[in-house]
Amino acid sequence: MSVKQNLEFQGIVRDILNNEEFNKIQDIEHHGISRYDHSLKVAYYSYKVAKMLHLDYRETARGGLLHDFFISPEDRTSKDKFISTFVHPKIALETAKQNFSLSRKEEDMIRSHMFPINLSVPKYAESWIVSTIDKIVATEELGLKFRYKLKYVYTAVMLFIFSFVR
Ligand SMILES: [Fe+2]
Ligand SMILES: [Fe+2]
Repeated sequence: MSVKQNLEFQGIVRDILNNEEFNKIQDIEHHGISRYDHSLKVAYYSYKVAKMLHLDYRETARGGLLHDFFISPEDRTSKDKFISTFVHPKIALETAKQNFSLSRKEEDMIRSHMFPINLSVPKYAESWIVSTIDKIVATEELGLKFRYKLKYVYTAVMLFIFSFVR
């Protein structure tokens, strides 16, 4: 069942998906896709895992969807992006709080999703799920974004290895 077909998931996050401010992240590039699509993927897979483990899947879906809710300018430099890696969970939390009322768990999912890159340790099982799913999804997205470069790296590594095993 896809995200769109899952009516339970859609019902849980409907108000967020209909929120005008949240929809601004549709136009922001994130790991080669939109920040909106990235967030939706993280939310949906996290919700599925939380449900399977009989955890708070509603909060997981909402916290997962809001984990990267920050509006960044289009003309960000590489330095800005680097700094953002460390500070965006805090900004996302502020943005989410301005637009929605969050539970303690949802706040924690957003705050700690970049652990261990930032030192906010996830306090709940649901936060660990969002943080882990985010890393898996990001790895897949970045792999696709840089697939051509990865091919060159792979070839260079293989040539290097073969130069020793002749
Ligand atoms: Fe993030
Ligand atoms: Fe993310």
